[in-house]
Amino acid sequence: MNRDFSNVSMAVIRRLPKYHRYLKDLLDKEIYRISSRELSRLIGFTASQIRQDLNCFGGFGQQGYGYNVEELYKEIGKILGLNKSYTTVIIGAGNLGQAIANYPSFNRYGFKLLGLFDVNPKLIGMKIRDIDIFDLDTLEDFIKNNDVEIGIICTPKEVAQEVADKLSIANVKGIWNFAPVDIKVPNDVIVENVHLSESLFILSYLLNEKENLQSSN
Ligand code: NAI
Repeated sequence: MNRDFSNVSMAVIRRLPKYHRYLKDLLDKEIYRISSRELSRLIGFTASQIRQDLNCFGGFGQQGYGYNVEELYKEIGKILGLNKSYTTVIIGAGNLGQAIANYPSFNRYGFKLLGLFDVNPKLIGMKIRDIDIFDLDTLEDFIKNNDVEIGIICTPKEVAQEVADKLSIANVKGIWNFAPVDIKVPNDVIVENVHLSESLFILSYLLNEKENLQSSN
């Protein structure tokens, strides 16, 4: 069944991975049933926020019972598309590209890494775990021949747009962009940016704010 959640706000969607993570922890602890109040204590969202969020998808809870953890975990996984598998490549096999390639959990969630691509002759021909690092020149053919759906950009920011263009021309569906630059892509390509430094700067702001408050008291 194809359900349409296009009217659900991105704010709600962006909370789903957190629900998914906590529900997995509960299942690992063999906890199979939870009330919205208990879930609220755990996750830090209010119970009414949780009920509202989950109601957007048809409401999973039962009055007086709470939530069936396994069912909710599976359903949220389906909403996030984690019941499917995706083929991916990494462009830029430096520190970050190799770290992502070395992280096995993405594979467990269905993101299959088929190759890394770089311009550095010292890296081309090497393997990260059992995955080859290929010459960037072969990227477009590789994507077409292997139906690659997602490109992960881990290059310096100066070349990120160029890489995004290559990925778009080769018809990837999505780009996971780690380069600290906003890339432009055709409308049918979805981009999700990860900028660790933005999160770090927020931490810095909060630390400074706390210090300022303490010194003014
Ligand atoms: P790095 O210098 O270790 O690796 C970059 C790799 O890209 C090198 O192997 C280089 O040969 C390759 N490269 C250069 N031009 C290329 C091209 N046109 N096509 C394919 N490969 C190319 O750098 P590092 O530390 O891995 O960082 C990579 C990127 O990720 C940078 O843009 C950095 O700013 C960003 N970064 C982002 C973070 C985030 O939170 N989003 C955190 C850390 C880094």
